[in-house]
Amino acid sequence: MFQQLEAAPPDAILGLNEAFARDTTEAKINLTTGVYKDAGGTTPVLECVKEAERRLVETEASKGYLGIDGMQEFSAASRALLFGPDHEVTGSGRATTVQAPGGTGALRVAAEFLATAFPDSSIWCSRPTWPNHPNIFRSAGLPISEYGYYDEATRGLDAQAMLDDLAQIPAGDIVCLHACCHNPTGVDPSLEQWNQIAEIVADRELLPLVDFAYQGFGDGLESDAAGLRALARPGCRMLVASSFSKNFGLYRERVGALTVVTGDSDTASVVLSRLKRTIRCNYSNPPAHGAGIVTTILGDAELRAGWETELAEMRSRINDMRQALADGLAAAAPGHDFSSVTRQRGMFSFSGLSPEQVDRLKDEFGIYMVRNGRINVAGVTTDNVGKLCESIAAVL
Ligand code: LMR
Repeated sequence: MFQQLEAAPPDAILGLNEAFARDTTEAKINLTTGVYKDAGGTTPVLECVKEAERRLVETEASKGYLGIDGMQEFSAASRALLFGPDHEVTGSGRATTVQAPGGTGALRVAAEFLATAFPDSSIWCSRPTWPNHPNIFRSAGLPISEYGYYDEATRGLDAQAMLDDLAQIPAGDIVCLHACCHNPTGVDPSLEQWNQIAEIVADRELLPLVDFAYQGFGDGLESDAAGLRALARPGCRMLVASSFSKNFGLYRERVGALTVVTGDSDTASVVLSRLKRTIRCNYSNPPAHGAGIVTTILGDAELRAGWETELAEMRSRINDMRQALADGLAAAAPGHDFSSVTRQRGMFSFSGLSPEQVDRLKDEFGIYMVRNGRINVAGVTTDNVGKLCESIAAVL
């Protein structure tokens, strides 16, 4: 039976890491996966995480299973981080949260819940979107459509196309929105545009599925949540898949959350029961360690302050590298406009490089980025930015 099978293609993002590991080019550069790297090119364990782990090791009394929906304190802390501690959604009981193995796990639980609860609904993704979104939604059986988002000419948001397309989506369909630091473009709506989006979502009775993987990497924890909070009007319904991979540097611990905002607490209980059934027949219940770390940090004023400082340092290093990349490209490739690099936000910059140019960078210079031209700016360092800019100039 196995001999008849065709091989699946490598993953558009994680598959490149495997190719990078095999590459023997000296001074090769990995700008593929959205993983933070420090000035020395390593992905550090945050100090606050180390301290939380020390405390967990001392106090942990059991390795028994968590509940199907995970830790209650973690869920409450996740909601407070998303909406703010005093927001109506946070405390009302009309929102329910399950712990999930990473943002990807949260999206998959969301997709399976949606596909079974609303079999006639399609999900609409931005053009472009994270390549794994369609994989996840298709695996769960959700039909997928697209709305306009990115304007190649300005390397910014095509707000008119986005708003016009959203206004055509049938009532009851699902809209996948990136809360901040849009992946792959780094282009986000302004607050005014978010308010327009929220208006259309409410008017047309669309159901937002908000992917919130980079809170704190744009402008700050609070400002990055402004779009989500614009959607979170009285009476709103929505799903939020949030991740702690990036902002706590907990990538391999797989820690995320799915929050579903319903109309009232009775409905929230019904939704929770369905989420639990979805989880039970998939991974049964979530891993404890990462969520324990997040809960410990968010529940301790000193650790939380330390985390916010470390997060601000990561954000600031990425922004410094955006500037260095833009300056380096202006010098190496005069006549080409790369100023959009400094306007885009979060880990990514959509360079405008073609798949062929990206292939040349890999084959001739050992520089790896996603084939759609996405650069992980967090992988740029003062040591590699010179080679990167000269190599890009050589393939333009
Ligand atoms: C990315 O887009 O690189 C990250 O979200 C990591 C991943 O799982 O693809």
